[in-house]
Amino acid sequence: MTAFLETNEIHTYYGTSHVLFGISLKVQPGEVVALLGRNGVGKTTTIHSIMGVTPPREGSIIFKGEEIARLRPYQIARRGVALVPAGRRIFPTLTVRENLEIARKPAAPGREPWTVEQIYDLFPRLKERDTYRGSSLSGGEQQMLAVGRALMGNPEFLLLDEPAEGLAPLIVEHLRDMLLTLKSTGLTMLLCEQNIAFATAVSDRGYVLDKGTVKYQGTVQELKTSPEVRSYLAI
Ligand SMILES: Nc1ncnc2c1ncn2[C@@H]1O[C@H](COP(=O)(O)OP(=O)(O)OP(=O)(O)O)[C@@H](O)[C@H]1O
Ligand SMILES: [Mg+2]
Repeated sequence: MTAFLETNEIHTYYGTSHVLFGISLKVQPGEVVALLGRNGVGKTTTIHSIMGVTPPREGSIIFKGEEIARLRPYQIARRGVALVPAGRRIFPTLTVRENLEIARKPAAPGREPWTVEQIYDLFPRLKERDTYRGSSLSGGEQQMLAVGRALMGNPEFLLLDEPAEGLAPLIVEHLRDMLLTLKSTGLTMLLCEQNIAFATAVSDRGYVLDKGTVKYQGTVQELKTSPEVRSYLAI
């Protein structure tokens, strides 16, 4: 079966600095896949390679049967891939609603577009903050808004870069429930995380990276119990 997303032996560099050494991974339609690993192992670079932000110098990336490794980020976004970046990057001077409205992009033919009201149903907290500026939101609210903004682009494939980072445990639980709700709608996701408890609560499978290579892959159950995984994550 052709995967929904497949990276084959990708090598990515920053200038002359070689950071990904042949990363191969697959994501099937409707799956949530975790990309685990410590600081600096190449998680962000992997999803930025998929998004075209740091395109790989070697290897291929196939999305829904099409080679996308040489496309520009906006061309990849138009094909239905969206990124929720680390650090949220919402517009601080725009209101919550404005942040959502300007992220609106058409849905693929035959698919219902997300509306601001549906985003508010998913995150009632954002509804309460409708007229507040981005800069006045808490970290958790900013993360919800960052996810909401990505959804307004009507993606088929969502890349999330450490969404739970720096959030209080109660907010992380809320984010987990929200991602499970999104998963139940059939949205396919690739989730970078260092927080293995959070990642395994929402994912079906995962890969563990170390020094720009895949060291381990397995089901959530295997990830939770493998001593090898614990050694790579230093937990
Ligand atoms: N803009 C850049 N220029 C040069 N080197 C970079 C740049 N961004 C990242 N790197 C290096 O590439 C390697 C992989 O970094 P990357 O950000 O992909 O890791 P990560 O797994 O996402 O880590 P973190 O958990 O800290 O976000 C690291 O050695 C990092 O220092
Ligand atoms: Mg990162």
